[in-house]
Amino acid sequence: MEMRTAWATLLMTAAAAAVTFTIPSQSGSGGYKYSPVDPAPVGISFEFFAFPSYFTNVTATQQCLANWRDLTGAWPPIRIGGTTQDRALYDAASSAYVTYSVADPRDAPMSLTYGPRFLTLAGQYGGSVVVGLNRGRNQLSNTIEAAKRAVAEVGDRLLAIELGNEPEYYDRAPVQPIARNGWSPDLDAASQNEWHLAVGRAIGSDEMPLMQAGNWNDSPPKWGAAQLIAKQNASVKAQVRTYAHHNYPGGSVRGLLSHAGTSANVRSRFEADVAAVLREGKPYVLGETNSVSGGGAADVSPTFGAALWTMDYVLRAVYTGISRIYFHHGTVGNCQYCFWGRYSMGAPYYGATAATAFLAQAGTMTALDDGNGAYAAYASFDTSGALLRLLLFNSDYYESGSRNAQPFVLRGLPAGKAVVRAKRLTAAGALARQDRGQAPIFGGRTFADGTCIPAGGDVFEEVPVSAAGEATVSVGATEAVLVYLR
Ligand SMILES: *[C@@H]1O[C@H](CO)[C@@H](O)[C@H](O)[C@H]1NC(C)=O
Ligand SMILES: *[C@@H]1O[C@H](CO)[C@@H](O)[C@H](O)[C@H]1NC(C)=O
Repeated sequence: MEMRTAWATLLMTAAAAAVTFTIPSQSGSGGYKYSPVDPAPVGISFEFFAFPSYFTNVTATQQCLANWRDLTGAWPPIRIGGTTQDRALYDAASSAYVTYSVADPRDAPMSLTYGPRFLTLAGQYGGSVVVGLNRGRNQLSNTIEAAKRAVAEVGDRLLAIELGNEPEYYDRAPVQPIARNGWSPDLDAASQNEWHLAVGRAIGSDEMPLMQAGNWNDSPPKWGAAQLIAKQNASVKAQVRTYAHHNYPGGSVRGLLSHAGTSANVRSRFEADVAAVLREGKPYVLGETNSVSGGGAADVSPTFGAALWTMDYVLRAVYTGISRIYFHHGTVGNCQYCFWGRYSMGAPYYGATAATAFLAQAGTMTALDDGNGAYAAYASFDTSGALLRLLLFNSDYYESGSRNAQPFVLRGLPAGKAVVRAKRLTAAGALARQDRGQAPIFGGRTFADGTCIPAGGDVFEEVPVSAAGEATVSVGATEAVLVYLR
């Protein structure tokens, strides 16, 4: 480990008035709202047909996931699903992972089959797995056969099975067979309930519920967990392990970067829906999400601005009571929002890594700001409630020219420390992209194109703390700093 003063900070000019945060020393104190932290809250969703390719043909996949396991001690959760799960039929006789044909390698297939090896591969992953199966085609016995095989192959690491992806779109052309006689939130809820019971009972989930219900992308409450729960009886509820929703906020780099924008997106879409699920005593997850739908936007999704959105979005989601956030990875070679690919890293991996590092081994976390401003501060606590880390985020937009810095004044830091250590997450600006020669850097570290192997030292800055427990951290526009209190 290398210790170094922040030369970058010294060069910045403090242009703004300081923002001050009083740091709670214990989880539960200071009048803040505290949320539990999952052992591995940041996960990856792999588009159904592309999943075998990610694990057999994209070198970076294992390493990118292992880098997070090294931080948290747990393999990140994965989910296999997406639009193509509702186009996929299980073929027990097939020796291939997946079979399909496409006119252009950048396309997703309109129909496909998959064999038992697909589920064997899912079972070889070290972390929890959610498997998304087909409801759209209305072939219940095929889905039951696949679910049974998933239980056999994935075993204890099978966290849940989804029955259908974004079912609100089943009545859009090409209309899915299950929606041919009409479709609505009521009809979908009746269908989900019936399928959850049928598939759940077929796989013997009486002792351990295994269904991940919901999985819509359209906004709650019309398409949301609260309306589904209202239509579920006790036998159906007994099958449900988690409720999931999807989310792609979209928009520009500037819009995504905005902390007020991200806070409002999470709060307005999810606060009430999450509360309805937590009342059932079950976890709420973002089962599939990323910056811009449809694989991402070329000028938005691969940028450092989107990386900081990824970080802030994870933290605001966890603060809102969401357990896990699965970032979607689509067609290999045609995926703007992907964190990694065969040849290059996406900047958002760095934001997800900073969020993972901040939440690692935490039992609870809180937000110290109200979500309405540009400057965010979060605190994480260990399972005994003691302060672990702070994450400070300056969401002022910076692209080029002179970069303003915002002083974050921290009060109430634990006594007896003359300095605390910090890692800075930075890049040339909001539009910086690793595939264009401007890799972000997190505490001196970058991740290599094609392999995801960390390069560079573990560089900490030292922040002096006064005898009264006060410190000032300078955070540049479009930058974040992770402060370690242990
Ligand atoms: C692996 O990548 C190569 C090169 O793009 C491709 O031709 C091949 O079909 C891929 N294999 C799988 C299993 O995806
Ligand atoms: C519960 O709901 C399911 C699905 O709608 C239905 O098939 C089942 O009969 C209901 N059970 C009871 C006890 O009402």
